[in-house]
Amino acid sequence: MSDVDATEAPAPQQEFDALIDADSRIEPRDWMPEAYRTTLVRQIAQHAHSEIIGMQPEGEWITRAPSLQRKAILMAKVQDEAGHGLYLYSAAETLGASRDELLHLLHAGKQKYSSIFNYPTLSWADVGAIGWLVDGAAITNQVPLCRCSYGPYARAMVRICKEESFHQRQGFEILHTLTGGTPEQKAMAQDALDRWWYPSLAMFGPPDSDSTHSEQSMRWGIKRFSNDELRQKFVDMTVPQAEVLGLRIPDPALRWDEDSGHYRFSEPDWEEFWAVVKGRGPCNEQRMTHRRRAHDEGAWVREAATAYAAKRAAAASQPTASVA
Ligand SMILES: [Fe+2]
Ligand SMILES: [Fe+2]
Repeated sequence: MSDVDATEAPAPQQEFDALIDADSRIEPRDWMPEAYRTTLVRQIAQHAHSEIIGMQPEGEWITRAPSLQRKAILMAKVQDEAGHGLYLYSAAETLGASRDELLHLLHAGKQKYSSIFNYPTLSWADVGAIGWLVDGAAITNQVPLCRCSYGPYARAMVRICKEESFHQRQGFEILHTLTGGTPEQKAMAQDALDRWWYPSLAMFGPPDSDSTHSEQSMRWGIKRFSNDELRQKFVDMTVPQAEVLGLRIPDPALRWDEDSGHYRFSEPDWEEFWAVVKGRGPCNEQRMTHRRRAHDEGAWVREAATAYAAKRAAAASQPTASVA
């Protein structure tokens, strides 16, 4: 609720509040408070950056995938992540933030991406663990975003979530194959779970007591569940899946709590989380160096595409001319 008396509130603000209260969608043409716009741009940009930076840890395994079929699946998955980045940068564009501008902010270190991608992929089992846990955590985070109050973001999330559930299954299936294999393969799967479990829990962000942006985002219908609620959902969903795989969650305190109907679990190491957020994770530098280089090396593609589009537009305005 606005703290301005309703009779004095400017009409656009009242209309905006009414749409939010009715759980309707805000569209690009609608008036919106500046803080709502900047919150969305920050969140969508961080999300888009995570999608494209997230291509790196798995992309490193495309040449080393253990079979042609695994290679084809992994290539499709990594390409999906590029597509997710594209949908999200497009959603941010409807708020007046161009893709160039957002990439510039990422490259300058002024915008962030999910810290999970600052961990290395040391074995093939890590590709399975990323699909199962990281994409699994992403789904838990993103399904409620399909009902986000901003229309273009909500619609982008519907398609993204369908693809993420394929990613989650392919990761689970990689681990299922490994855990049904030799003792060495099973040990490789366990090692991957040991390393990815806590960073995956940290993907939901700091505990509710330390989360700065949550309350306002909840009121605006951008966020539907708190960080701790989402983390709990993820743990409740994932522990039985680990049992199917025959893998042990690396948390001695993990137990089923009959009274609450939830698993009890240990929190990630928040000091480590903040260190990684601040740039001191194992791969922060590597990821950003690679990203900037890929952007620079792709300059000719953007220039060629722009020149081609200009040529087509010129040809379209002169019906007799043909495009070479
Ligand atoms: Fe994705
Ligand atoms: Fe994904």
